[in-house]
Amino acid sequence: MAEPGRTHTKLVGAPDYDDPNFWDFRFATGRDVGEWLNSGEALLDVVLSDLERRPGFQDTPRVLHLGPGVSQLGMKLRDACMERQWMGNGIVNVDFSAEAVRLGQEAERHQAPHKAMHWLRADLLSWEHVSTLIPFAPFDVILDKSTSDAIATFSDRKISSEDDLSCICPTVRPFLSSEPTVTLSPVEALALHLVPLTQTNTTWIALSYSTLRFDSLPFLAKYWSLRSRTPLKATPGDVSSTAYTPEVFHWIYVMDRK
Ligand SMILES: C[S@@+](CC[C@H](N)C(=O)[O-])C[C@H]1O[C@@H](n2cnc3c(N)ncnc32)[C@H](O)[C@@H]1O
Repeated sequence: MAEPGRTHTKLVGAPDYDDPNFWDFRFATGRDVGEWLNSGEALLDVVLSDLERRPGFQDTPRVLHLGPGVSQLGMKLRDACMERQWMGNGIVNVDFSAEAVRLGQEAERHQAPHKAMHWLRADLLSWEHVSTLIPFAPFDVILDKSTSDAIATFSDRKISSEDDLSCICPTVRPFLSSEPTVTLSPVEALALHLVPLTQTNTTWIALSYSTLRFDSLPFLAKYWSLRSRTPLKATPGDVSSTAYTPEVFHWIYVMDRK
């Protein structure tokens, strides 16, 4: 399997969010903010109430945590699961940064098997990588704290019917039957890659700084419907402020797999 790495020319002036080495450096040197947007308590509440309300829910929540980086959110989720007598080993943390995964695996090393979360290295925009997650699927919840925000800065994916079929997600292949190429925005590519890992009652719960993160994405809308978009006031310190700065909000999105 190819190593995660940049597969396209970077736009001049664009941040390096699409380069795993950029993240490795931040995580290895302690230069990352640690928690993007906020510590994610409100997001955690939404995830837990989704799991609690799930019909036929057993005791092992299956949660796919997209791009955890060095956030503590996965650990908090696992602790909350333990408080409810649930297992923690259905939580799968996936990041394309080798350093994030190394740190995560190290932190889990001494956990009992029923508590230990999985940490896997994969580029969520590569079907070759994402398909390695199928043994953990189907997931109940997709947890996404500002990872879609980072992915939204990547360039569009051009997929051709002449590409190696094994590298094209089965959800994308049908689009190539009427057109020789299809162009997906990066968030659409992510959304389509999540389809084979999920089922009709899966919920994608995301925190974003954008009011439009999942809007106007027709390929995404074929498989995911927006249930709610809830404003969350950004706490002072999350954003720079002066006496004349308007209030700033982040947004909690809840989307249902169709
Ligand atoms: C904005 S940070 C968010 C980190 C964490 N969720 C938080 O809230 O602090 C984006 C994270 O997504 C990861 N990431 C970005 N693009 C990715 C991709 N294509 N596949 C897997 N992980 C990715 C980065 O390595 C980084 O850990």
